[in-house]
Amino acid sequence: MDATPAPRAGTAAAGTDLAVAGVAKRFATTQVLEGVDFTVPAGQAVALIGANGAGKSTLLRCCLRLIEPDAGTIRLLGRDVRALDAAGLRALRAEIGFVFQKHNLVGRLSALTNVLHGAIGRAPFARAWFQSLAPQDLRAEAMQCLERVGLADIAARRADRLSGGQSQRVAIARALMQRPRLMFADEPVASLDPAAGEEVMALFLDLIRRQGLTLLFTSHDLAHAIAFADRVIALRAGRIVLDAPAATLEVAQLRALYD
Ligand SMILES: Nc1ncnc2c1ncn2[C@@H]1O[C@H](COP(=O)(O)OP(=O)(O)OP(=O)(O)O)[C@@H](O)[C@H]1O
Ligand SMILES: [Mg+2]
Repeated sequence: MDATPAPRAGTAAAGTDLAVAGVAKRFATTQVLEGVDFTVPAGQAVALIGANGAGKSTLLRCCLRLIEPDAGTIRLLGRDVRALDAAGLRALRAEIGFVFQKHNLVGRLSALTNVLHGAIGRAPFARAWFQSLAPQDLRAEAMQCLERVGLADIAARRADRLSGGQSQRVAIARALMQRPRLMFADEPVASLDPAAGEEVMALFLDLIRRQGLTLLFTSHDLAHAIAFADRVIALRAGRIVLDAPAATLEVAQLRALYD
């Protein structure tokens, strides 16, 4: 099976997928992000670490303008995110895969239908159909995405009957169904036990690398950050305090950033 998504029109094979410069965000009296600068080349996997409240989730959300930054520039997949109108923003978000700690599957729908929902942003009239009416080619693609996460056998099972690990795999399959070039993952395995977390993370990164996707993920698991990312960026009170290749880092060194 060919696991490579179809190339998109108008997207470069290489280059910079994300460029963040001078980003700042304040909530009431708290300066949550301040002078955040970094760029992510296409195909790189970046771990974003830092203590609770350091600003990791806010930064991911600012990159997509799910939260409006107060200052700075963000270029994502060649577009100036802060200059986009609503339609442009919708189109951009449809090209980005999301995986969150809470997988946000629709419990009463099957695993397969949840995966199909990943195509909503790119399939015409997608909102009008549900599983039984989905075009055959999309259903086949959704099954392939479930196969890639090792869950083809539970395609028909309701999402609310899945284990935590299975749910997170379905969420990954749904994100793959978007045919993204870039993925954002906010603590993608935080709700899983250590063994399942390790397994799902390894699977996720394998899929990311095989498809040449760019990844920005947050994690509190420093060993995961080092093992699975190419590069680690650490935030502390809204500022970048470390930005280094993962291969040069050790857990103890990263742990010190939390003191
Ligand atoms: N909508 C909001 N309104 C007010 N304050 C907010 C809002 N969202 C986040 N904050 C504050 O911004 C700071 C950064 O939050 P954020 O969720 O980005 O941290 P984080 O690094 O993702 O933390 P965690 O590791 O706990 O997920 C926190 O102090 C948080 O309370
Ligand atoms: Mg967070």
